Amino acid sequence: MKHVLITGASSGIGKQLALDYAAEGWKVTACGRNVERLEALAAASEQISILTFDITNLEDTRQALAWVQADLAILCAGTCEYLDNGVVEADKVLRVMTTNLMGPINCLDALLPGMATGTRIALVGSTASLVPLPRAEAYGASKAALAYFCRSLSLDLAPRGIALSLVMPGFVKTPLTDSNDFPMPMMITVEKSSEFIRKGLARGASEIAFPPLFAWVLRFISVLPQSLLRLLAKRLVR
Ligand SMILES: NC(=O)c1ccc[n+]([C@@H]2O[C@H](COP(=O)([O-])OP(=O)(O)OC[C@H]3O[C@@H](n4cnc5c(N)ncnc54)[C@H](OP(=O)(O)O)[C@@H]3O)[C@@H](O)[C@H]2O)c1
Repeated sequence: MKHVLITGASSGIGKQLALDYAAEGWKVTACGRNVERLEALAAASEQISILTFDITNLEDTRQALAWVQADLAILCAGTCEYLDNGVVEADKVLRVMTTNLMGPINCLDALLPGMATGTRIALVGSTASLVPLPRAEAYGASKAALAYFCRSLSLDLAPRGIALSLVMPGFVKTPLTDSNDFPMPMMITVEKSSEFIRKGLARGASEIAFPPLFAWVLRFISVLPQSLLRLLAKRLVR
C-alpha cells in the first residue's frame, strides 16, 4: 500500500488531500497541531493516522517524523498574514516566514534521511509568488523563497532519485481565504484543488500551478516590464 504524509491536514487543502488519498486506497499520515480536528479526520477513514506537531519547532518536527517512510510527502501547512497600509511589522513578517519557509524546511530536514529512491516531496507554495501583490509582502516573499528553495533542492536531490514538485494554487476556498476582504478571482473549491494536485503529482509534474487560466495570467503578467506589471497587479487584487 502506498503511503502519503501530509502536513496541514487538519484543514483546507491538506484535509481534502488526506480524504481523497485515503479514498484512493493510500495509507495517509495526516499532520497538524489541532488534535480534535485531526482525530475527526482520522475517524472518517481507517486509512488515516495522525501526527501532532508544530512545524516551526525543529526538534518536535524531527521527533515526529523520525520513523516516517513515505512514498509521497506533501508539505502543505502554511499561514497567511497581510501587511496593512505599507506598515512593515517585523514580528508579523517573521511569523509568516517561520511557518511558510522554515516550517517546510524543518520537515525536509526530518524527512529526507528516510526518503528512498523513487519517492516524491511536494512543497505547497502559491501563485502569489509569481507577481508582487499589494499587502502580500510577507506571504508572497515566504512563498517566493520556498519556490526558489524547492527548485534548487530538486537539482541536488535528482541524483538520489528523490523528486520534488512545487505546487502553486490560486485562490482556494478554505478557512485561510475566508478571512480575506478583497475580491478573489477564479476561486476554486478544495475538492477541485485536490484534484489538480493529485493529478499533477501522479504524472510526476515538477510544477503544478492552478487553476490553469489564473496561473497563465499571472505568469504572463510576471514577464511584462515592471511599470506595466505594477499597474496590472494593483488592479488584480486590492
Ligand atoms: N487557500 C488558498 O487560496 C491558498 C492559495 C495558495 C496557497 N495556499 C497554501 O496552501 C496551504 C494550505 O492552505 P489552506 O488554505 O488549506 O489553509 P488552512 O485551511 O488555514 O490550513 C492550514 C493548515 O496548516 C496547518 N498549520 C499552520 N501552521 C502550522 C504549524 N506551525 N505547524 C503545523 N501545522 C500548521 C494548520 O494546522 P493546525 O491548525 O492544526 O496547526 C492547517 O492544517 C498553505 O501553505 C497556503 O499558503 C493556499
